[in-house]
Amino acid sequence: MSRKPLVSGNWKMHHTHLDAIAFVQKLAFSLDAEDHRRTDVSLHPAFTALRSVQTVLDADRIPVALGAQDVHWEQKGAFTGEISPLMLAKLNVSYVIVGHSERRQYFGETDETVSKKVRAVLAAGMTPIICVGENEEQREAGGAEDLVVGQLEAALRSVAPEAVASLVVAYEPIWAIGTGRTATPDDAQAMAAALRAAVVADHGSEAGAGVRIQYGGSVNPDNVADMLGGPDVDGALVGGASLDAEVFARLITQLRPG
Ligand code: PGA
Repeated sequence: MSRKPLVSGNWKMHHTHLDAIAFVQKLAFSLDAEDHRRTDVSLHPAFTALRSVQTVLDADRIPVALGAQDVHWEQKGAFTGEISPLMLAKLNVSYVIVGHSERRQYFGETDETVSKKVRAVLAAGMTPIICVGENEEQREAGGAEDLVVGQLEAALRSVAPEAVASLVVAYEPIWAIGTGRTATPDDAQAMAAALRAAVVADHGSEAGAGVRIQYGGSVNPDNVADMLGGPDVDGALVGGASLDAEVFARLITQLRPG
């Protein structure tokens, strides 16, 4: 099965809704139909900009998917400050980042809450982008692969194999996020292969063949083609280099053949 790459721009806590509108218009102008046929693109604005971005994508029929950066696992209730999967689905959100390392590190996200969120996103008809990754000490101690595979196994507990086949995993070594240091393309490929093998073992070969595995961590227009060179790396989750429309468009057009 051939998997279409997915390049996702995670804006984190950047861009007001006005900045976001200008960004989307600029990005749309810089990509052609071939880019969209070759590569799926998703944008993950802050919650406050989702509605504005959705309106521009719909009005101008721009084939870029809308994404969110996080979600709560309940559909509704007394959870002040939280956003439910149903609210996102109503805005035509397609992809929801779950378990980003910044959420694990600063906001108490655990394997257990990640697993609940994954199920809630799927139940609302959206696709989770499940983030996994080791920190520097864990890599130096030699336990990165077991740790990262363990994070994914915890996130996919009680998820049906058909659902696993259509979801997205982002392998993001924490020491590579926002640092300008990437994993080597070989290390990214090796980790993606280990993650895929774990999916095959736990959820079957169709799930393994279908799941898309992104690399994330300091991806930019100069390194994206190399980072996505391995057969098991199916796209990128991009932070810093997704903030400027011209840079992000250049990153996507690097995936044009030849
Ligand atoms: P970065 O962020 O591209 O700025 O390293 C990646 C991410 O956190 O998803």
